Amino acid sequence: MEKSSDIYHLSYVSTGCDCIRFEDIKDILEIARKNNEDDQITGILVYCNKHFFQILEGEKEAIIELFNKISIDRRHDNVIKIQEGYIEQRHFDKWNMAFKSFNKELRDLDNFNTEQFYSYINRQLENDQTGNGISLKILADFFDLNG
Ligand SMILES: Cc1cc2nc3c(=O)[nH]c(=O)nc-3n(C[C@H](O)[C@H](O)[C@H](O)COP(=O)(O)O)c2cc1C
Repeated sequence: MEKSSDIYHLSYVSTGCDCIRFEDIKDILEIARKNNEDDQITGILVYCNKHFFQILEGEKEAIIELFNKISIDRRHDNVIKIQEGYIEQRHFDKWNMAFKSFNKELRDLDNFNTEQFYSYINRQLENDQTGNGISLKILADFFDLNG
């Protein structure tokens, strides 16, 4: 049984490399969903106009190991960590990697329509008692800013 204190989260922003294609995003998501299921990692990836924002949730060692791997992935750069720390509960427990994008070419990968996305994030923020909601707030802002 997972105790709430076992759950760690990390969020970052990054910029897709000059040569990134929509096919690359599909590949990233496919491998992420497969690996994350094996490693009990959940979260959300947002891609808008060459910028990524991602929240990773899971066991601390697994999250740090994955972030180290993601940081050196050549499909993006300028990887800037925003927040990390323990959280009370997973915010994206239904998804090994939820996905949201403004780019219509990626619509078929998108798990939310825009209204569902905002209402989901707002509900998670209301449930967040720890002050760790910065990642969630930035998630909504990031999506707004890059639209
Ligand atoms: C923006 C971005 C997000 C990524 N997210 C994940 C992820 O959530 N899980 C994952 O396993 N790999 C993710 N990757 C891919 C990893 O960097 C790496 O290529 C993949 O885990 C395969 O690593 P391996 O060859 O060591 O198995 C992401 C890559 C990028 C560029």
